[in-house]
Formats: sequence, C-alpha cells, structure tokens
Amino acid sequence: MKLIFALVFISLCLSFLPSLIARGAYHSSLPSGFTDYSYANSSRRLLEYKQAQSSVVDITRGYMTNSDLERAMKAFVQKCSNISRIYSIGKSVYGFPLWVIEISDKPGVEEAEPAFKFIGNVHGDEPVGRELLMLLSNWICDNHMKNPLARLIVENVHLHILPSMNPDGFSLRRRGNANNIDLNRDFPDQFFPVNDDVGARQPETRAIMSWLRKIQFTASASLHGGALVANYPWDGTEDKRRNYYACPDDQTFRYMASVYSRSHRNMYLSKEFQGGITNGAAWYPIYGAMQDWNYIHGYCFELTLEISDNKWPNAKELPILWEYNKMSMLNLVASLVKAGVHGRIFSSDTGRPLPGSIIIKGINHTVKAGRVFADYHRPLVQGERYEVIASAPQYKSKTTHIWLGEEAMTVDFILDPEVTTEGNNLLRSVCDCTYGSKSRFAFVEFLWRDHLEVYFVLIVILTSLCFLLKRRLKSNLMKHRQSPKRSVMI
Ligand SMILES: *[C@@H]1O[C@H](CO)[C@@H](O)[C@H](O)[C@H]1NC(C)=O
Ligand SMILES: *[C@@H]1O[C@H](CO)[C@@H](O)[C@H](O)[C@H]1NC(C)=O
Ligand SMILES: *[C@@H]1O[C@H](CO)[C@@H](O)[C@H](O)[C@H]1NC(C)=O
Ligand SMILES: [Zn+2]
Repeated sequence: MKLIFALVFISLCLSFLPSLIARGAYHSSLPSGFTDYSYANSSRRLLEYKQAQSSVVDITRGYMTNSDLERAMKAFVQKCSNISRIYSIGKSVYGFPLWVIEISDKPGVEEAEPAFKFIGNVHGDEPVGRELLMLLSNWICDNHMKNPLARLIVENVHLHILPSMNPDGFSLRRRGNANNIDLNRDFPDQFFPVNDDVGARQPETRAIMSWLRKIQFTASASLHGGALVANYPWDGTEDKRRNYYACPDDQTFRYMASVYSRSHRNMYLSKEFQGGITNGAAWYPIYGAMQDWNYIHGYCFELTLEISDNKWPNAKELPILWEYNKMSMLNLVASLVKAGVHGRIFSSDTGRPLPGSIIIKGINHTVKAGRVFADYHRPLVQGERYEVIASAPQYKSKTTHIWLGEEAMTVDFILDPEVTTEGNNLLRSVCDCTYGSKSRFAFVEFLWRDHLEVYFVLIVILTSLCFLLKRRLKSNLMKHRQSPKRSVMI
C-alpha cells in the first residue's frame, strides 16, 4: 500500500513539473521598475517549449508576438508610405516602444480635421484588438483609392492607431502590465483621487496622458475582450453604487455607442445589454478608467468597446471577428465627419484663427478648438436642435441656433474683441510678429507709393532704435542670466 502511494506521489510530481517550470517563466526575476530586455527571448523560449508541451501556449498560436507586431507595423508604413507614418508615444515598463500608426492623406501634418484614436490591448490578456487594428490599417490602405468610406477617412480624418498599449502584459499573458497594474484603473479619477500621485503612475498611462497633450483627439475607442458591448461614460459613480450615472453628453455617447453596435454583426442583438450599449457605471462602476479621463481632461469622446465574448479566442476566429467589427470600426471613425457640428473660430480684428472653445447650451461640456487652425469638431445627436456658443478670452461670445439634420454641419464663428481701446489695438498689431502677410504687404505698398521720404526717415530711425535696443538687451541678458524672465524680449 505504502509503495503504491509513493509511486503515485512520484508520478504526480513528475507530471506537474513542466507546468511549474513554465509558470516560473511568467515572472520577471527583476524587481518591478527595472527594465528587463530579455523578456522577448524568455517568452520566445517559453513559446517554443510549450508549443511542444502543453495547451496553455496554444492560445498564442496565430497571434503576433510583440516583435511580430512591431515588424508588421513597420512593414505597413513602408507599404503605405504616402498615407501613413509610425511614431512611438513612450515605452512600456520592460522598455517596449508603444508604436502608433497614423493614417491620413497628410500624416504628421496639422490640418483642420478631426483626429480619432484606437487603442488595443489595454489589458494584456485581451489581444483581439491588436490583431483587428492591423487588419483595419491594412484594409484602409488597400481600399482608400476605391472604397468611399476608406477614402473619406483618409482624406478627412487623422486616424491614430495604437495596437498595443500593454505589450508587457501581453507577453506575460495577464491583464495588468509588468508591475501587474490594471492600466484601465490607473488614470486620475474625478470622484476618488486615489491615482493623483504622478510618481506612482505607470509609464504606459503616462504615455497616453502626454499623447493627449500633444494631439487634440475628437473621439476615440479602446478595444477589450470578455463581453460584447459598447460602453460609454461615466464609468464610476460618486457613491460607489452600481447604477446608471449619466455624463453631460449622455445622449451623444448613446448615439456614438449605437453607431458601433448597430454596424456590428450581432452586438445590438445582445440579450444582456439593450441595443448592445451600456453606461459604464450601470454595468459595474470602476475608478481611474481611461474613458472618463479622456472625456474630462482630453476633451475627447471615448468609448470602451468589448468586442469578443472570449478574451483570447483561437486565432482561427480572428477573420470572423474582423468581419463582425469591420463596419463598426469604419463607421465610428467616419461618424466624426458625417455627424456633429464643425467649423473654425476667427478673430474679427485680425482675421486670424482664434483657438477658443465651443459649448452647446444645456450640455455642461466644453470642446476646444485646435491650436493652429482653431477648428472644432463637436459630436452630437443627429436630428436635433442645438444652440452653439463660441467663446474665447477677451472676445465677445457668439451664439447660433442650428438644426442638425441627417448630415454634419459647418459653422464658422468670427468673434469681436471685448473692449477695444485704440492703444490696445495698435499695440497688438505692432507687437504681433505673425501679423497677416497680406496686410503687411499693403502697408509697405502704401508707404512706397505715396510716402517715399517718410519711408527713408523711418528706416533711419528704426535702424538706430534697433541698434540701441540690441545693446540694451545684451547688457540686460548679462545682468539677468539667472532670471527666468529673460525669455521675455519684445
Ligand atoms: C535574444 O537572444 C539573442 C541571443 O540568444 C541576443 O542576441 C538578443 O540580443 C536577445 N534579444 C533580446 C531582446 O534580449
Ligand atoms: C499614393 O501613391 C499612389 C501611387 O504612387 C498614388 O496613386 C496615390 O494617389 C497616392 N495617394 C495619396 C492619398 O496621395
Ligand atoms: C459643470 O461641470 C463642472 C465640472 O466639469 C462643474 O464643476 C460645474 O458645477 C457644472 N455646472 C453645472 C451648471 O452643472
Ligand atoms: Zn479589458
């Protein structure tokens, strides 16, 4: 009897051994925060080992590894060089670059167009999004000359695609990043300021936050797995209870989420979620979510899309999942152009773009105009009446009533300065070095034609003034070397 027990025990130990070794390789032996560049190799070794051995690793078969993905993205921008570029927004804990593809007829060039971003693989063990985003990129590249929807997107939107926000989590095959932090709980929260410690924030989260400071996105979507539903803000409630917690743009978000679910093969047929959409907090409240932060601080309308019931399905299902989500992804991006109110804000005194902001009466949410062209893009529900208010500091606000029919509307605003004392205006145009070239030309022409003598006297005076000013500036600079004020030179 004892012998049999001993034999059973020994054989059990032997049979568990391979999986124990395999699990050990999941964890970096380095303390958190250190860069472990060997992970790609160890996971590859693990992969090779496991492909022969166990069933756990079979799930990765047919999926791109992180290096496969990087290669695929670089190959993509080579193939599609005139409508795309690649750039990195930062690095993961393990030092993997967070690559982004931008698709546009003028990639990397500022235009008066809305920008949309797709983020995949926020959770390491939800890899469907990163695969679909590469399929989406390739489909747009292959079809933008012949398909109207693809062309519309390329010509009128700047589409930014981050297939993997969490490459470390992917290689570790787990939800969190290398420090085992859930990145969709790592953003500053509006109700519970638990994540306000900048030093403790994960590098992947910080990368997204500084990305939003550089690019003004109109809308975005992150792709997840484990359910089939389009989720919209708020994700959290003030009292931590689970119930519908509407954000100011509830109607707008319901509309955008429905664009996704209704274009999907079966999302809107959901038995669990009516119409295939849900308010985040009505499903289950979470705090530190990316979508709430985007809406509040990024002025960006973000959805959280759960695109497959199975978090990590067999790779054979990827082409089907792509077919099911393809029109949804395209229509959501295209809705930025096909719906809502758009336009630019100008100043009436200089005629130049005025980066002000847009508010819709009754909706407590501001949309900022672009810094360069002062273009604004404001998603709204079609078929409704709105009061659009444009404002900018030191300018009088302007209001207009619109009725948004089937299509998008363009409304440009020209704002008048609030108080215009003569001196103020004169000062502004004299000090303004980027003053419109047309009017500068007219000024010179005026002098040249009728006041040649005045012109010469002016030149002499200005030259000597410049000389004096330079000398003074030089001595001032020497004096104030340490002073931060030295950059103020008019
Ligand atoms: C992987 O291992 C090879 C040699 O085995 C080495 O040359 C390479 O630099 C390693 N790559 C990484 C990312 O550590
Ligand atoms: C991209 O390049 C192809 C071939 O050179 C050209 O036919 C096409 O018009 C270009 N597309 C854009 C958007 O510039
Ligand atoms: C509008 O929203 C801000 C926060 O974004 C809040 O402080 C303010 O009280 C709100 N105003 C109204 C009228 O609800
Ligand atoms: Zn997820």
